[in-house]
Amino acid sequence: MILSIESSCDDSSIAITEIKTKKLIYHKKISQEIEHSRYGGVVPELASRLHAEALPAILRECEPWFYELKAIAVTNEPGLGVTLIEGVAMAKALSITLDIPIIPVNHLKGHIYSLFIEKESIFPMTVLLVSGGHTQLIEVESHESIHTVATTMDDSYGESFDKVAKMMALGYPGGPIIEKLAHSGDNKRFAFTVPLWQSPLIAFSYSGLKNQVRLCVESASVDDYSDIAASFQYTATEHLIQKLKKYFKTRPPKHFAIVGGASANIYLREQVDLLLQKYNAQLHLAELRYCSDNAAMIGRVAIEQYLRGEFSAYQRIPINPRCKL
Ligand code: KG4
Ligand code: ZN
Repeated sequence: MILSIESSCDDSSIAITEIKTKKLIYHKKISQEIEHSRYGGVVPELASRLHAEALPAILRECEPWFYELKAIAVTNEPGLGVTLIEGVAMAKALSITLDIPIIPVNHLKGHIYSLFIEKESIFPMTVLLVSGGHTQLIEVESHESIHTVATTMDDSYGESFDKVAKMMALGYPGGPIIEKLAHSGDNKRFAFTVPLWQSPLIAFSYSGLKNQVRLCVESASVDDYSDIAASFQYTATEHLIQKLKKYFKTRPPKHFAIVGGASANIYLREQVDLLLQKYNAQLHLAELRYCSDNAAMIGRVAIEQYLRGEFSAYQRIPINPRCKL
């Protein structure tokens, strides 16, 4: 079995996965959404302190399996430096105590493997990763061949929802709040410009849209908020769809997945599914509970790395907050 730890942002999570069967033996996650909500976003030092309390509490429940563990997997990149270190410090302590190696895991890879929890993997697959920190289009050819083909030039899809919710003082995380508010709104009321609509580049950008929404919120009343939310969600999603259409002209999809916390957005799922129908392509999604950050996805990546013998000694686990795939 492998014990995996995730602490790259504001979720403290530990999982135990059986190597041979890929079965998830144990999985627990403690989210910090309530604690960060009053600030309208994640406060790194607060997140770090909360991990220091939550991770040991979860770990105590894992003690019955300690002597069956073959390795400790831990997210070491990318993420917030002060929160990554909490998980990595715990992994190092366990590695020394139990005398087993560490498997460092890339968080973005984890999101891709959220599709394969307790399942076999599917290749090749084109993956849209939409989270609080990232917006990327990725070609996944095999376990060893994973390439980013487009990324954001500034902010991410999920983060733009967080900021729009913050502008309206609606709390954190903004994704589910804005999605719910958009249900009762008119998505054509405010004509925000779709980012990069004239550009031939296959890339993403959300800073300009965020600014347009900010100006709109400043001159609007609370009664307008649902229309603003709906118009924003429409534009933010239309941007993804326009770029996917462009990309599919040169590389038509067969298996396509959306992963990351924002892949829970129903409107986004529907729009991508509509586009995929034109190509007879299949949409793959992780189970809802594995869309946002969790240790089960880290454990699933770790199985593959374990089978390839990709271990590290505890002295050699770098923390790379800004690392890519
Ligand atoms: O993957 P994740 O849990 O953490 C990161 O790796 O960043 O993603 C969290 C992000 C937040 O920005 C949150 O607002 C967004 O995912 N999110 C959503 C929805 N649910 C979560 N964004 C849009 N619509 C949603 N329903
Ligand atoms: Zn994530």
